[in-house]
Amino acid sequence: MPPRLRHLLAIEGLHPPQIGQLLDLAESYVLLTRSGQTQRDLLRGRTLINLFFEDSTRTRTSFELAGKRLGADVLNMSVATSSVNKGETLLDTAATLNAMHCDLLVVRHDQSGAPNLLAQKVDAAVINAGDGTHEHPTQALLDALTIRRRKGRLEGLTVAICGDIAHSRVARSNIHLLTTMGSRVRVIGPPTLIPAEAGRLGVEVFHDMETGLKGADIVMMLRLQRERMAGGPGGLVPSAREFFRFWGLDAAKLAYAKPDALVMHPGPMNRGVEIDSAVADDPVRSLIREQVEMGVAVRMAVLDTLSRGAGNG
Ligand code: NCD
Repeated sequence: MPPRLRHLLAIEGLHPPQIGQLLDLAESYVLLTRSGQTQRDLLRGRTLINLFFEDSTRTRTSFELAGKRLGADVLNMSVATSSVNKGETLLDTAATLNAMHCDLLVVRHDQSGAPNLLAQKVDAAVINAGDGTHEHPTQALLDALTIRRRKGRLEGLTVAICGDIAHSRVARSNIHLLTTMGSRVRVIGPPTLIPAEAGRLGVEVFHDMETGLKGADIVMMLRLQRERMAGGPGGLVPSAREFFRFWGLDAAKLAYAKPDALVMHPGPMNRGVEIDSAVADDPVRSLIREQVEMGVAVRMAVLDTLSRGAGNG
């Protein structure tokens, strides 16, 4: 039996049964929510703090909704990141949170590893809501749930992750989850946006959409993360128009994938840069809205699971 989860800091290192259990529980929360029910007793009296050092719309609100649907007291703290003494700021924050007796702490930070550091210093169960270019585990779980509901499985599927792989914590978490669960993962993008360690991650690398998308069941597009490109995007990508021409997803490029291939994007989207609106809004091929719905259910499952593992339930 794999160990009980105390925190959720990364997908890397999780065992298939742990992932499977989280997805099964999330599935039950989809059904519960769709039937108009909540489970407000589960986290009654518990405090959940959303600590966001970086912008977020979907992730923060879905953690807030998930916490409230399970009856927790939810507090949102947005913290402007200071460029100096980041370590100290974080440790001071940890001491404050401990004094507040927070049970569940959801953290987003622009520095990879910040949630791990906090997890060593706070009594709360820590959930990584995205750290730098490292991981975004709940995004990978919600993506997996979305795929599994539509395709009936994860094993044996071919998933193509396209665009700015190098700066994407979403890509990294998805690669770990999907390869662990038996999918074949391809990454497609310009050489400047494919991380050097791609080979070690067990994925196939492609630099053009036509060969990369051939036979794909799922086409996962990523946002071009200009804010993470040191020295500005100039050196790494051509103009937005050129990027779209080679790596942006439109109906013509989607036709390279399987006829029933489905399209995903974690949001926020740059329409016309990495994805064409007609594809993003296609009610048959696009799963983008469903991903948002699954986000709440997955976060309910994670909060539920960690509140049991924390030894205070
Ligand atoms: C992602 C993130 O913040 O890592 N967004 C999200 O959580 N839905 C992807 C992104 O910012 O491009």
